[in-house]
Amino acid sequence: MNGRDLVRSMKAVGSAGAAQRLRTVRAAWRTRRADAAGLPTRGAERARVPGPVQDVEPGPGGGVVRFSRSELRITVAVNGAVFWGWDGAGPEPSYALAGRSPEPDPRAVLEPDKDGGWRVVAERATVVVSRHGAVEVQTPGGVTLRRDLPPRWWEPVDGGAARWMQRSEVSADARFFGLGGRASGPRLRDGTYRLWNTDPGHAFGPGDDPLYLTMPVQLVVADAATHLVFHDTTWDGTVTLREGEEGAGSGHDRPGTSELRMSGGPLRCWVMVGTPARVLLAWASLTGAPALPPAWALGYQHARWGFGSEQEVRRIVAGYQERDLPLDAVHLDIDHFDEHQVFTVDHDRFPKLPQLAEDLRRDGVRLVSIVDPAVRAEPGNAVYDAGTVVDAFVRDGAGQVVRGEVWPGESVFPDFTHARVREWWGGLYEERLGQGFAGFWHDMNEPTSFAAFGETTLPRSARHALEGRGGDHREAHNVYGLCMARAAYEGLRDLAPRERPFVFSRSGWAGLQRYGGTWSGDVATGWPGLRASLSLVMGLGLCGVPYSGPDVGGFDGSPSPELFLRWFQLGAYLPLFRTHASLRAGRREPWEFGPEVLEHARVALAERRRLLPYFMTLAHLARRTGTPYVRPLWWGIPEDRALRDCEDAFLLGDCLLVAPVLDPGADRRAVQLPRGRWYDTATGRAYDGPGQILVDAPLSRIPVLARAGAVLPVRGEDGGLELEVWAPARGRTGGGLVVPDAGDGWEEPEIERYVARWQGRKVVVEREGEDGVSAPPHPVRVRGVEER
Ligand code: NOJ
Repeated sequence: MNGRDLVRSMKAVGSAGAAQRLRTVRAAWRTRRADAAGLPTRGAERARVPGPVQDVEPGPGGGVVRFSRSELRITVAVNGAVFWGWDGAGPEPSYALAGRSPEPDPRAVLEPDKDGGWRVVAERATVVVSRHGAVEVQTPGGVTLRRDLPPRWWEPVDGGAARWMQRSEVSADARFFGLGGRASGPRLRDGTYRLWNTDPGHAFGPGDDPLYLTMPVQLVVADAATHLVFHDTTWDGTVTLREGEEGAGSGHDRPGTSELRMSGGPLRCWVMVGTPARVLLAWASLTGAPALPPAWALGYQHARWGFGSEQEVRRIVAGYQERDLPLDAVHLDIDHFDEHQVFTVDHDRFPKLPQLAEDLRRDGVRLVSIVDPAVRAEPGNAVYDAGTVVDAFVRDGAGQVVRGEVWPGESVFPDFTHARVREWWGGLYEERLGQGFAGFWHDMNEPTSFAAFGETTLPRSARHALEGRGGDHREAHNVYGLCMARAAYEGLRDLAPRERPFVFSRSGWAGLQRYGGTWSGDVATGWPGLRASLSLVMGLGLCGVPYSGPDVGGFDGSPSPELFLRWFQLGAYLPLFRTHASLRAGRREPWEFGPEVLEHARVALAERRRLLPYFMTLAHLARRTGTPYVRPLWWGIPEDRALRDCEDAFLLGDCLLVAPVLDPGADRRAVQLPRGRWYDTATGRAYDGPGQILVDAPLSRIPVLARAGAVLPVRGEDGGLELEVWAPARGRTGGGLVVPDAGDGWEEPEIERYVARWQGRKVVVEREGEDGVSAPPHPVRVRGVEER
């Protein structure tokens, strides 16, 4: 046991008392013992490389290239995505894929290449395989985007999972993004990033890695093209990245490198090539469309660990109402459970929860419930009893149910990798719906189990169903949260078929977007935490999970009024806009920071409400195209190097550029503008990009710029939909898409397309339909004309 681990675990259990502390020691010993008995010991290993090429077997979309000591299967799919797998690995089974793997593209064929190699030429990419097993991905124009050197395996002599390593080179100008939620991004600097979902056990800052939601997805942005590479392996591993350097030593470029080391699992990957938008479209078609949130989940939400009672919840809601501040949801944390037990209610403190929910609902405020996977291991606990009957809980190698330690005390963990268990768990949300909850906040699902030493999760030897294939926690760990989200989503679809499930989950993996979103987890209160918040949201969006947001104000401690306000102003432009804090943290209600902060927060809240139809449109577009709401500035222009390195601003959809204040004491800030004309929405002043500008950023607001020509849907004073139009630059036209949404349900709204153009001295806006143009069915407000 090391001292730091012990302190960490003490903090994790907080004031829960000596008995719990003792149990964390016991849990840690149990894990150690289970793994000593149930995991293969690492003995002698044999190293292997593919060896020289022998022959090939063409097949649909590519074929198999045989080497003396491995074989490589390559398939180009109809959506342009390229798959390859070593040792004969195919794309299935996979936790990431939304359904069956896409059909092979019949036009892609395996043909001989120079020097005894082979290649597959497809519409969007060419894959070249050298005779020793290096694999290169080229653009249709022949520029190399990625070169994977022959992989290397280390196989235990007496059987078991092989470790492997894959080293890749990318162009010298390339930048890396992704790998799930990383606090230090979104541009991933040189360093090693772990692929193992982890609760850091304390409020985290940019230096903490890994965090709760990792995934082996890299988005690599370079002059020649953008590509996404996904190594479809759930096992523990690391990625070591090193950016390249142009004109390094004697004028030669040094390529960027990525070295993936995995402790097991198949060596297989998908690569998608094109513009960022094309790549994310292909990624969403592979791993599934992002779930559409109900409109209220795009409003403002207030959470707190430790409301402690119905009265307190009512007091907080009244605080918003008295001050005329919009509020769309309140989240109840584990303190509303009976002794922290999931799917229960503390009836002393929350005697009339359904009544509370109904009263809030009448005022337009939804209730969201936290849901933890750990179930108290105690006969009499209804979930434990029912789960025992259906054999739902994870067992160890010896067949004993694994016991860990979480908030409710000694706990057991459902095996969400079993369809039957998911179905059972999904049904439990009926109790929550009965209490009046409308949304679900999944926590502690890395999964986390407190331990005085060692890893704070289940033993690696713990057994999982893995959809009938059987395996252990080494393989199941990273998809535990993903499968829990699936259980909830599918259960809710059955229980409340007319409503869109609202689920967001702390942990997850590639494909999480099918079931919902995520949030930052316990981001540390402080300016670095504010920066990390933005990094997480942008990075996750580039991995296909577009709905997320931070704990506004930070999870722990007490932010200064200025920090709270700046966080609040940023949060107002992120998909999940939610204040939340820990049990012992200071207040997070906007009126707790003095009258000035309150007035500025009011402006941010009003603006968020005004932009709701725009957020809803972005949610629909994310579902249809995979494009995240929050995009890095380089989104449309990845070849703009200055934008590629810009991490302190973002695009919200096509229309807005948001430049949050991330430093104390600032009242102006520099903004790197993409090309084209941009209006400061506060002053109406026009700027022409590309280039850097300096704009005012008084405490009352953060700079938001609108793209010339933008047409965006906003909520008018009467609550109806209006079009806000920003004058195109002279001689140019503009436009935008609007998806009028009913707020909930499954009706498919028709996408409205608008064009904006100059007509003499006026800007006119027309709706483009199949049978020509027509006047927009919504009021129009043109801005940027008089202000030019
Ligand atoms: C950890 C979560 O990250 C946090 O948001 C929550 O308040 C606590 N668990 C208590 O449930």
